[in-house]
This record gives sequence, structure tokens and C-alpha cells, in this order.
Amino acid sequence: MVEKTAHISWDNQTSFELPIYNPSLGKQVIDISTLGNLGAFTYDPGFFSTASCESKITYINGEKGILLHRGYPIEQLSEKKTFLDVAYALLYGDLPTKTQSLGFEQKIKDNAGVDASFTNILQALPKNAHPMGMLISLVGALSAVHNINYDLNCVEHREKACIELIAKLPTLAAMCYRHSIGAECIAPDLSLNYAENFIYMLFGDKPSNTIAKALDVIFTLHADHEQNASTSTVRLAGSTGTDPYAAVAAGIAALWGAAHGGANEACLKMLQEIGDISKIPEYLSKAKDKNDPFRLMGFGHRVYKNHDPRATVMRKICHDVLDSIHAHNDPLFKLAMELERIALMDNYFVERKLYPNIDFYSGITLSAVGIPTNMFTVIFALARTSGWVSQWFEMTSSSLKIGRPRQLYTGEQERTVAI
Ligand code: CMC
Repeated sequence: MVEKTAHISWDNQTSFELPIYNPSLGKQVIDISTLGNLGAFTYDPGFFSTASCESKITYINGEKGILLHRGYPIEQLSEKKTFLDVAYALLYGDLPTKTQSLGFEQKIKDNAGVDASFTNILQALPKNAHPMGMLISLVGALSAVHNINYDLNCVEHREKACIELIAKLPTLAAMCYRHSIGAECIAPDLSLNYAENFIYMLFGDKPSNTIAKALDVIFTLHADHEQNASTSTVRLAGSTGTDPYAAVAAGIAALWGAAHGGANEACLKMLQEIGDISKIPEYLSKAKDKNDPFRLMGFGHRVYKNHDPRATVMRKICHDVLDSIHAHNDPLFKLAMELERIALMDNYFVERKLYPNIDFYSGITLSAVGIPTNMFTVIFALARTSGWVSQWFEMTSSSLKIGRPRQLYTGEQERTVAI
């Protein structure tokens, strides 16, 4: 893999040679892991230029707007494959054959139920708590209930934990919603597919084919996204050898923030706050004002500086769903489309390459199918669990090194405590 070397020197010292790795796709990577022994650290707050791991799962080219899972383009996966097939590919490396696909779906169904004690855990939480807070508690509790004899060194145990997490997340997510509305939880219906069953456990009804398909695509579009904040959190927590359920609970916590998974909820709230097309210019000025903390939610991305390929697919799904329920005249949808149109012509957004991201369209779509706003990020967490467990499985399948970043210390030098 090493074909070239980089040279670095400081303080007029001899120049040091660092290996450069050639990835199968993407930018070259300079290995700086020996720099600490040579007397320096690198500084990269926000990880703009730091590869934290080696991975074979997902590739993103932000300049060209490309997203590949195991080499397959997201556009093809979302059109031709189910979410569970994509989850299988993330976990095992290739898309499943028909037999493997059926076998995997059956394993997911077999593991969809949760222990009765989860209802008691939920009962202890206030109904008006945010469902993401509830979900973190329930997923953390999986480590206590389903994982008594778990052995990190056993590949079958690790694989079982991954399957249980993919299988149980819809059940736990739906339970959080049912608790928040003071309703009885609904047990999984194993005759339904993954997306249909989730809607059934939320509302007690099977969705239309259009809505079930839309939800399945939403799951696929959110399945994995390389080393983002929540995935890096799962990897960092997992690098200590912690329980996989605890590592995923940590990932859910990281996803919750409005700059990450919470953006779909924040986007819908923003549209409700704007309220009317006539107010768009006022809010665009706020978004551009450096003294105003307001940002246009659902716009911009750390990695995609061209277009987000998931947003292109999501935009179409959004229109399909709104057509199917005749909601194109819905005031919120009209407002969103006008905001999109005006922002895309505005120099501030054009110059900074701030395009609508997946959360802009997913929030509108989920809202149109009757999913409450505070469940949007929970749905993101449900889908991203497939990526988190695959990244965790990949990491724990090779030699495990604890993640331990260094720092640029700018505090006091050593001083004496006055009596
Ligand atoms: N509204 C207004 N200005 C923005 C926005 C926005 N949404 N996003 C970035 N900018 C400006 C920012 O102020 C900066 O301007 P300047 O160069 O004049 O200082 C410039 O664009 C670059 O921004 P940045 O903060 O350096 O970009 P980043 O890569 O650190 O942040 C982001 C990426 C997604 C956190 C940010 O664009 C944002 O806060 N967007 C809104 C939240 C959102 O929709 N998040 C969902 C991301 S997609 C889901 C996921 O993958 O997690």
C-alpha cells in the first residue's frame, strides 16, 4: 500500500519521512502515527483532514457527490434493493443472494421482540421526555438484559449483537413513541416487512405500499455515512472494548444534536417558525448574519460541497409521497419548496456551496406521512444502527487499538498552590 513518502521537518531538525498510503478510492493518506515519538503532535480540531481508521464499508466523494456502500452507488441501492439487503451488504461485504436475503430477514424477525422489562423501564420515564432520550436509555438497557454471557472475542457473539441491534431498534423506537402518547406498546407483526412492521408498531395500521417503500428508502439513505460524528463515537466507545449495545447508545447520543441527525427535526421546526412564504427573506438574512446564531437547517454539509446524492433521491421520494397523499398544496410543503428555490439562487449559499441536504427533504416527507417531528431523529437512529454495527463489527474484527486523541494544551504552566 505504501508507494510514496512525505517529508516533514521543524525547528531546523532533520527531515522525517512519513509513509503515504494509496486508498482504493479517494485522497492519499499520510501516516503521522509516529510523529508523537519524534516530538510533535498534529492539530486538527473538527477532524477536517484526519482519517481515524481504515475501512472497507463506505466511500464518499464530497466534491463529486458520490456515495458508495461496499462499492455500490446509493442511487442503485435505494432503487433496486431493500434496506435489509443494504444492511446485509454493510455487515458482510456483499449484497445477499436471494437465499441469504430471506435468511437474514428471518433472523431479523426472530430477534425483533424485546423483554417485557423494557415496558417497565419506559414507565419510569416522563411521557413528555424527548424520544431520543428514551431510546438512549432502552438501547443502553439492552446490554443489561440481552447480553449476559457476551464475549467480545467470539465472532458469533459479535455477529449476534449486530443482528439483535438491527432487529430490535424498530421495536424500541416504536415503544418510545407509544409511551410518549400514553398508549400501549404494539408487538411486532412478523408477517410484515421491516418498514411496514415499524409503521404498524407506531400506529397499529399497515401503511400503503407507497409509504412503506418510501420509508424503506429513507432507511437505506440513512444506513451509513462513513466516519461521521455518531459513527466515530461508536468506534471510539467500542475501541475500549465496551459492550456493543452501550457503544450504539453512545452513537445515538451523538446523533441527537441539531448539527447532525437532529437537523431533520430542527428543519421542520424552522419551517413552522418561518410560517409563511413572505417571511423567507427575513430568515435568509438571519442565516447570513454572522452576529445571529440562526442557520438554515437542512442546508450545508461537512463533506458534500457539490450535492448530497442522498438528497437527490430523497427529493424524489418526497414528491412521490406528497403526490400519493395529495399534499402538494400543504402550506408547509409550499413554503419548503419556495425556501429551496430562493436559497439556491442566493449568492451567500451558492458561494459557500450550501445545498439542501437529506434532512431537508426527509423531515417534510416524514411529516407528510404523519410521523411526529420528535420521532424524526429516532428514525435516523434506527436506520443508522445498521451502519454503526457494521463499522463496529469491522473494527472489532481486526486488532483493537483504544482511540486516544492528543491535544494542544494552552492552559497554565505548572504553578504552586498558595496556602
Ligand atoms: N446556514 C447558514 N450558513 C451556513 C450554513 C447554514 N445551514 N451551513 C454553513 N454555513 C456557512 C458558515 O457560517 C460558514 O460561513 P463563513 O465561511 O462565512 O464563515 C460556511 O458556510 C462554512 O460553514 P462551516 O460551519 O465551516 O461548515 P461545516 O462543514 O463545519 O458544517 C454543517 C457543516 C452541516 C454542520 C453546517 O452546514 C450546518 O450547521 N448545517 C445546518 C444543520 C444541518 O442541516 N445538518 C445536517 C447535515 S446532513 C445530516 C448528517 O449527515 O448528519
